[in-house]
Amino acid sequence: MSSEDGVPVIDLADIQGPGLERICEQIAKASEEWGFFHIVNHGVDLDLIRRTQKAYIDFFHLPTQEKRKYMMTADFEGWSSPEVYNDPDLMKFGLTTAKTCEFMYHVALSRDPNQQPALSTIPPALRPMVLEFAKEVTAAQERVLAAMSVALGLDASALQNRFGPADVGIRANYYPLKREGKTVGELPAHSDLPAIVFLFADKVPGLEIRKDERWVRVKPVADAFVVNVADCLEVLSNGRFRSAEHRGAGSEAEERISMVSFYMPSKAATIGPMDELLDETHPARFRSANFGQMGLELLSTGLKGKGFVEALR
Ligand code: SIN
Ligand code: FE2
Repeated sequence: MSSEDGVPVIDLADIQGPGLERICEQIAKASEEWGFFHIVNHGVDLDLIRRTQKAYIDFFHLPTQEKRKYMMTADFEGWSSPEVYNDPDLMKFGLTTAKTCEFMYHVALSRDPNQQPALSTIPPALRPMVLEFAKEVTAAQERVLAAMSVALGLDASALQNRFGPADVGIRANYYPLKREGKTVGELPAHSDLPAIVFLFADKVPGLEIRKDERWVRVKPVADAFVVNVADCLEVLSNGRFRSAEHRGAGSEAEERISMVSFYMPSKAATIGPMDELLDETHPARFRSANFGQMGLELLSTGLKGKGFVEALR
């Protein structure tokens, strides 16, 4: 099945039952051809998703001086917006953040018991929802990663093990209503770095993805997450799965919020092609690198192109 724009729609209802084999095939095909697909029946509670989304919208509607209390810090966590882009508080950390889009980012879950996220930096009104949301999304991401592993001919736990104890970061992008033809928020074309990404933007369109040489405007699918292969996964799969460039924008009809969940490899993880995928006819197409070191370098240069994939070529 695919939506009108051609982006595959995959039903995960049977992922823990006899449907697994078919789901793996669909995920493999979508990851090879698009690097993007919708998932429905993903197991994340819809009421929880809506409550989390509402809590973020309430936050973004606060006056600037309230939001500034959660201003981004050196670890890239917190709130940022075009109106504070040149603020000395951001400059003192040497941060490059999005000049064109208001957003808030937090690490909301860590699989490493020795590295608990700094939860006190998440606004209290959001905290319970964000933590619960992160927990459910992470579990769903790990189910999809298991299906991807199987699709690559690996053990179900192979990709997850290779990433090590993951951190899961949640980024909420806020695009106010577009007025008088003026764009008040947009995220320029980029690919995502780590490793598998789930996006929930509900019914308001604004996501565009690059398919070969054209840009496809993604039609929202009710209650679905949009899943995308990010750079790390392209490298681990030795290029079989592709990380596609995409961009985000607001709408003229409604304000828009996109909640993006990043499943991030452990800083100690080595990102390189999985040994099991290499042989004489399939030589490594990328070199390997330490995720912590490279990830930080690339994040600090800002969003552009397929940075990680290019750096390891
Ligand atoms: C993103 O790439 O982080 C978000 C794109 C969107 O808002 O749809
Ligand atoms: Fe992105």
